Amino acid sequence: MVAEKATHDINLHNVNLFLHDEFHEAFRVLRQEAPVHWNPGSARANGFWSMTKYEDILTISRNPEIFISSKGIGGSGEREPDEVDQAREAARPRGEGASSIITMDPPRHVKMRRLVNKGFTPRAVNAMEPKIREMTRAILDEVGDRKEGDFVLEVSSRLPLAVICGLMGLPRESWDLMFDLTNAALGAGDPEYQQAQTGASGHINNAKETARRGNLRMAEYFREVMVSRRVEPQDDLISLLLESEVDGEKLTEGEILAFCNLLVVAGNETTRNAISGGMVVLDRNPEERAKLQSDVPRYIDSAVEEMLRWTSPLHHMTREATEDFEVRGQHISPGEKVIMWYPSANRDEDVFEDPYRFDIERTPNDHLAFGIGEHFCLGAGFARKEVKVMFEELFDRYPDIKVTGEPDRLRSSFINGVKHLTVQYQ
Ligand code: HEM
Repeated sequence: MVAEKATHDINLHNVNLFLHDEFHEAFRVLRQEAPVHWNPGSARANGFWSMTKYEDILTISRNPEIFISSKGIGGSGEREPDEVDQAREAARPRGEGASSIITMDPPRHVKMRRLVNKGFTPRAVNAMEPKIREMTRAILDEVGDRKEGDFVLEVSSRLPLAVICGLMGLPRESWDLMFDLTNAALGAGDPEYQQAQTGASGHINNAKETARRGNLRMAEYFREVMVSRRVEPQDDLISLLLESEVDGEKLTEGEILAFCNLLVVAGNETTRNAISGGMVVLDRNPEERAKLQSDVPRYIDSAVEEMLRWTSPLHHMTREATEDFEVRGQHISPGEKVIMWYPSANRDEDVFEDPYRFDIERTPNDHLAFGIGEHFCLGAGFARKEVKVMFEELFDRYPDIKVTGEPDRLRSSFINGVKHLTVQYQ
């Protein structure tokens, strides 16, 4: 009975749960007591199944025909009754009716993904390494002799922004705009990024309006870039998409806009949190940090994987069931939402030995921070390389860097984000 009460008390719609590390405790209880758990809906939110065990997330992810992405990939959190989920909005430019690959199902998904795959292979990532290092050094040069600062604004957010904007061929002058617009698109549930606005129906709905305006402005921006690339193609992803065909047909403007929107959001809003979260967890585990700093080349690769497991920069992805399906004796019906909680899978006691221990030498470490299956993160190679190069260069330049305040966390059940982190660089 005690256990039943504990799981009943867990409401994953409550976004405030994700403002602190409390959500890990909620997931621990669910894994133990109700690993496939129904979170009821309300007038303001859809009900959904929570998947908290590693094995079950593999099952859902590996059945993309049964558990589809095209009905939305962001799931929990309360919202206005007429509001669709933010993550889905971020991947779908207004008025175009087009989806990006992350909200696309087989068989078209694979064909669309293939168009850009070549730009994300290990070979392409390795070829970019010198450039990534150069970008990292330039970021740290700007920090220079400063004693203290905001690690997120000055360091961790700068590299992913530079890399994705570089791949897309966006000029330096627009990088700050991209930073603001992706924050608006995915961080709209956080008061810091909201602007007081009146929605179409007359009521104030800051989150919805903020996300809508962010996406609208992004679509306008990319439309202009497309016009200029049509006239003068460059060696970048946008020019590649303009020339590409699927089943003998060119992509529509809406499809290209959706792709651009996804790449800039996905490239920007995730890796920065792996770097910020990595800084925090290293700071809180001085022995592991000292070991890493004692021989960076030896430990860095496994340390990066452990930072990814530990931080799980995306809290969840959602699927919708298209058929009756049973998991651990629970019946999932067509039309029901299924949420896969990655931080929970990444601390699953059945898979990871001593999962609450941060261990930079953990092996094996088959975490699910990048998802798995059909939609496995396209940018995983870049993300890994960025985190690695950043910590190599950071510890070389500022070996005594210290976290001096509590991380100021993003109010979101989708992105496991840190908005600000005060540090003493030297
Ligand atoms: C630490 C950083 C990152 C994390 C934790 C992360 C996480 C994820 C996850 C969990 C998915 C799976 C979505 C699903 O199953 O529905 C995904 C997909 C995706 N990610 Fe990442 N990501 C990261 C960095 C990046 C970067 C740097 C890029 C771009 C350069 C990127 C581009 C994408 C794209 C395009 C998809 C959609 C793939 C598809 O639907 O086929 N990600 N990411």
